[in-house]
Amino acid sequence: MAGRSVSHPLFARFFTRCAPAAERLGGSAHREELIEGLEGRVIEVGAGSGLNFAHYPSTVTEVVAVEPEPYLRARATDAARQAPVPLRVVEGTAESLPVEADAFDAAVASLVLCSVANQATALAELSRVLRPGGELRFYEHILAEEPSLARLQRRVDLFWPYFGASCHTSRDTLRAIEQAGFSVSSCRRFTFRPCLLFAPVSPHMIGRATRP
Ligand SMILES: C[S@@+](CC[C@H](N)C(=O)[O-])C[C@H]1O[C@@H](n2cnc3c(N)ncnc32)[C@H](O)[C@@H]1O
Repeated sequence: MAGRSVSHPLFARFFTRCAPAAERLGGSAHREELIEGLEGRVIEVGAGSGLNFAHYPSTVTEVVAVEPEPYLRARATDAARQAPVPLRVVEGTAESLPVEADAFDAAVASLVLCSVANQATALAELSRVLRPGGELRFYEHILAEEPSLARLQRRVDLFWPYFGASCHTSRDTLRAIEQAGFSVSSCRRFTFRPCLLFAPVSPHMIGRATRP
């Protein structure tokens, strides 16, 4: 396997069980917005159980979905069989993508840059595998603009990653994307809180950025 191993058996089962409710409450619409209009070859990093797969339009010719966690990768492999476009699930991490450079028209990162071990390395990898002018589509929960919630997120991050499979609530992911050299063409911020427990991860963004 490329990169370090990622195994979160309890989180993986919790996520798979709880995700359908979050999808009904708005997650599915967010994924539609994330993926709308994509074309050509696409790489998706940290694909989880494959919740984005059903949303790929027929203009996408192939998706390579990278997922390091074994239980989630098995769920994603099941979901790939029902996908509307050719889709291959492979083992790997965002920090060390098992694919060649300049090979993809677009990359998709949803609810994953909060969890990767090294955001800068993961974003550098995404830049490496996209062709020049290729597009990064992102859907992430992020650091709050509101100072009191941002303070709460920083406190919560003292323990949240231990229960949430390395998920951090207070990452400034938009800034990280810009610092990685991407040019952000759109970014919509919004609040999404499918249940009270998720208050620290309620600030979200969906956007598009281009590799120069
Ligand atoms: C909250 S889940 C989101 C899954 C999926 N992207 C979605 O939108 O439903 C976080 C995902 O990030 C994956 N992940 C964690 N560390 C990773 C890494 N270093 N590289 C790639 N994926 C990683 C986890 O295995 C998990 O599938």
